[in-house]
Amino acid sequence: MTGLRLHMNENTGGCSPRVVEAIRGMQATDLALYPEYGPYTEACAQHFGVRPEWVVLTNGLDEGVLLTALGHIARERAFDAEVIIPVPAFDSYPWATAAVGATPVRVPAGDDFAFPVAAVLEAITRRTRLVFLNTPNNPTGRLIAREDLARVAEAAPHAAVLVDETYIEIGGTSFLPDLPRHPNVIVGRSFSKVYGLAGLRIGCLIGHPDILQPVRAVTPLKNVNHVALVAMLAALDDKAFSSQYISEVRASRQIVYATCSRLGLRYWPSEGNFVLLDVGDPVRPVLDALQAAGLTVRDRSTDPYSPGCLRVTTGLTTHTQAAMDALEAALAGRQSS
Ligand SMILES: Cc1ncc(COP(=O)(O)O)c(C=O)c1O
Repeated sequence: MTGLRLHMNENTGGCSPRVVEAIRGMQATDLALYPEYGPYTEACAQHFGVRPEWVVLTNGLDEGVLLTALGHIARERAFDAEVIIPVPAFDSYPWATAAVGATPVRVPAGDDFAFPVAAVLEAITRRTRLVFLNTPNNPTGRLIAREDLARVAEAAPHAAVLVDETYIEIGGTSFLPDLPRHPNVIVGRSFSKVYGLAGLRIGCLIGHPDILQPVRAVTPLKNVNHVALVAMLAALDDKAFSSQYISEVRASRQIVYATCSRLGLRYWPSEGNFVLLDVGDPVRPVLDALQAAGLTVRDRSTDPYSPGCLRVTTGLTTHTQAAMDALEAALAGRQSS
């Protein structure tokens, strides 16, 4: 795809130059031999302040989502399993639920997409085997309070609770320090966003060894490639790169908020590198006009929980400004047609 991709919440500025340098430094044998996971798992665990037994490296967090469902539902032959998914949600959750033949229990967000804690607690039954919680949430950008994460985890001790923190470096407070008190929680992390490694596919699951054991049991022996591992280490080493990106994201979101306010569009303040905004129906002409201007954004309007909405990645300010200029022109075009 050519043009500007603002539909996948990728780091459109790329990754740290140190990552590229580290990959260039790899030898032919580094590529020819299966990777040794030990040292990389250790480095990752150290970064997150946990012991290596608490970490499973995954092929992106996407794989982590699927492996969690496979380990806790398919492998356990829990054929009547229910999976709680607060919505609107990241697509991988219903896909993983369907892949293991479980029943999704969708819990709609509250006003302004607030996390529906009371409704989630009410949705928990003895058949609940997995709960997906995402903070900051994709696509709304809303956070879930740590106390609410803890309440859900405590109310479902018989289930695995996957706290997806893909965007947590950008906004919010990680649940990691609370993990020792919550043995049924698995925290999911990704190196695709702030670190800009989406093309390499690397993420991890972090939790008590007992909750990770069923996941480990279904994890392919060599699920992560060596280039991704080398890249992860180099990326973690370049703190200046990630903080610079986070500052860009903050400035970018302000550009979107200011544009929406000026154009009278509803938007939801976000803690991620994306903003959900309501352009109203019909959405298609707006998407087409943006596409014609070389810009792809995410159409969220077909989701019953976000009618009339688009989600725009807010990374580099130059990209965001280009997107807002194109959006303004597209909306003007829709009014006059
Ligand atoms: C909420 C959420 N979880 C997980 C992922 C998957 O990330 P990864 O690239 O690590 O597979 C994404 C990607 O967009 C996401 O938005």
